[in-house]
Amino acid sequence: MEFLDKAILPQSAHHMVLIKYLIVVAFVLLIPYLSLLLGNLAYSLYFRKRAIRENNENFYKLSEDMIEMITFNKGVAFALGIVPMLSAMFGFAQLLNQTSASVHGYLFISLLFLINALLLIYSYKNGFLFKVKVNDENPNVTNTEKNRIAKQERAVKIFGKSGKYGIYLLLISIYIFCGAIQLSFDTERWQSVGNIGEMVFSFNALISFAQFIISAFLITSAMILYRYFRTNSEGTNFKDEFQNYIRDFVLIRGLIATILLISFVVLSVMMRTKSSLSFGVFGYTVVALCLILIVSSLFYLMLKESSTKYNSAVIFLVVLTVFVLIIRDQYSVDVSTKKQFAILAANYDAYQAKINEQLGIGGAVINGADIYNGRCIACHNFDKKIVGPPYNSTMPKYEGKKDLLVKFIMNPVKVNPDYPAMPNQGLKPKEAEAVADYLLTTYKK
Ligand code: HEC
Repeated sequence: MEFLDKAILPQSAHHMVLIKYLIVVAFVLLIPYLSLLLGNLAYSLYFRKRAIRENNENFYKLSEDMIEMITFNKGVAFALGIVPMLSAMFGFAQLLNQTSASVHGYLFISLLFLINALLLIYSYKNGFLFKVKVNDENPNVTNTEKNRIAKQERAVKIFGKSGKYGIYLLLISIYIFCGAIQLSFDTERWQSVGNIGEMVFSFNALISFAQFIISAFLITSAMILYRYFRTNSEGTNFKDEFQNYIRDFVLIRGLIATILLISFVVLSVMMRTKSSLSFGVFGYTVVALCLILIVSSLFYLMLKESSTKYNSAVIFLVVLTVFVLIIRDQYSVDVSTKKQFAILAANYDAYQAKINEQLGIGGAVINGADIYNGRCIACHNFDKKIVGPPYNSTMPKYEGKKDLLVKFIMNPVKVNPDYPAMPNQGLKPKEAEAVADYLLTTYKK
């Protein structure tokens, strides 16, 4: 990740705040996307398995629908997956610059897994184009035809496999992602975490991973509920019986997910280090818990009444919950990186001052009068002799020869035998020029 470290310029405190917002925006896109990708792929694989086992056309159609829902367009993977992950990576590279925490490095590894997972998932989705209707009983099927069908069946199998490997890679990507985020506010571990292994085997990473998976199923269930059962839904081609199966399937999974999520949201706060806790973190946790409780009771009510009437409320509340949890985690990052933040801001000021100095422009404007009052007045006055001669007597010879005056001020030479030599005042060119201007304009008055 050295190339990234080199690409980093010190940022002002103002920019750092913008970077924090950038990370929040990236997460608001990325986390729901990854959740839906995982949830839909898992459901799709599950239904596909049942379709094959029970030779049920409905399950096959449902499986295809699930994966189509999240991969309808390749641009989605870029806009909601890859680009936000890259932004978060660059954001953290800036934010945690000069710490030993390589959060951006882990995000990069997570991104690599994600890209590979996406390739497999898209080929899994394309496998549905190869759907074959096999009719073994038909005696008219020729041998070549049989061969063709066998080939297609093999292709279907391979595409099914790529879905399976896709979900493994996706899980690894998500795990590393969760570990990296946990690390970003676990300042105490920054010194000790030297490699990805140590990061992966942290208890916090495990809990946050579990929380991610559970909320993935919650979001996906809410999404399916909304898609199939909202009032204006164009409807699916499924018969009522199968619609009811889908309804109960998602309602039960949704309910279980909410109950599990409550314990994991609590657990993840309890496990957090003190340095990453604040009232904000607690406040957002309480809000999230309330939202989850409401969603949970809505799922329960719908199950009890065998209805789906709260589908839009559920999807709205679930999305809200996810956002609240993202903001909560960002609060933790905020609290725990305060010190780091101050160091970076100070670094930036020093960096800016250095650049200004190189360019000869001061953050503070160079003022001739100030320099005179601070550096020269001990030995010089305009009309009285102190240690050095009064300016009123020496300035006239420099009239129209500012260059010479600047040269003298920067590098005094012996002039008048009545006086001792003037010690070098160590002024910079810009300062010498400013004070020369000041002396030349002031002595006449
Ligand atoms: C420690 C005392 C001291 C300080 C401080 C000092 N000077 Fe001088 N300065 C002298 C002395 C002594 C002379 C006379 C040197 C000579 O004639 O060789 C002198 C001479 C000068 C002269 C006249 C040179 C000439 O050609 O006759 C100028 C102009 C001058 N100083 C500017 C400055 C400025 C500008 C500063 C502040 C940035 C400054 N000095 C600070 C002691 C000082």
